[in-house]
Amino acid sequence: MDLKVSQIDQVAPRIRQIELVAADGGALPAFTAGAHIDLTLGNEETRSYSLLNDPAETHRYVLGVLRETESLGGSAYVHDVLKAGDVLKSSSPINQFPLYEAGDYNILIAGGIGVTPLVSMAHRLKALGKEYTLHYCARSREDAAVLDELEKIHGPRIKAHFDGGDPSRGADLKAILEKRPPAGHVYVCGPLGFIKAVNAAGAHWPRGTIHYELFKGSPADLTPDNNDEPFDVVLKKSGKTYTIPVGKSILAVLKAEGYKIKTLCTAGTCGTCRVTYLSGIVDHRDDVLDDDEKGEVLQVCVSRAMPGETLVLDL
Ligand code: FES
Repeated sequence: MDLKVSQIDQVAPRIRQIELVAADGGALPAFTAGAHIDLTLGNEETRSYSLLNDPAETHRYVLGVLRETESLGGSAYVHDVLKAGDVLKSSSPINQFPLYEAGDYNILIAGGIGVTPLVSMAHRLKALGKEYTLHYCARSREDAAVLDELEKIHGPRIKAHFDGGDPSRGADLKAILEKRPPAGHVYVCGPLGFIKAVNAAGAHWPRGTIHYELFKGSPADLTPDNNDEPFDVVLKKSGKTYTIPVGKSILAVLKAEGYKIKTLCTAGTCGTCRVTYLSGIVDHRDDVLDDDEKGEVLQVCVSRAMPGETLVLDL
């Protein structure tokens, strides 16, 4: 569908809030709390963005977009080029991070821009009359883009935690998750390390009660493993060879060289960036390919070559 940018607000130094309406002025498809849309930007990049407004609204979708420090094109486009009046292609809302509405007690934990799907969840939980608390973890109040509005709507149910850039001064996740109320659910969204920390702090919660989603559009820079090494990829069609350094993905290197590869999550979880390979042993680091597929394709946003291997890609 076509969506028109009706408003853009700079809500934090690195966060823009984008309001979209139907280009034909009609009602939009309804969405449920936690949903996202896949938006094709004017530079032909497709990115997933969580919807942060009240799911009861059908006249608009609202997104929050962080300017990534090493953007692969998505967030830089939204911050530097996108303007009110632009029309973008979008998918209908998709929900891979649903709210279990039967849950009586809900703890929402946001790391930075990961707050966006949790804002729509808080709206819904308020409408349902459920118990909920939203813990909003950010570097500072200035960086917590939607905090003022959340506090206005939800009052003391919002708990802000500011770490000043030092994670050791962040929220006490163990204390937050210490009690396990019956029919309790936890929802967490943020960077991978943050999600892992919440899962570790809630290890005593029953299986299936901690729900999480990685925030979208994170850069394709990788946290290196201790034994990572640089390796070469050879592109079969051009015969060109590129060296992939430690800490960079194949995707980041090829994009910088001008290759167009479709991406969404850039975290190995959506399957979009798969590329066929012809030789070499791959260190698969994705969460989507099954064993058969791993013999033929790799996800270039996360996967690497095994030490000493060169990968020949069908590109
Ligand atoms: S972009 Fe989603 S798996 Fe690579």
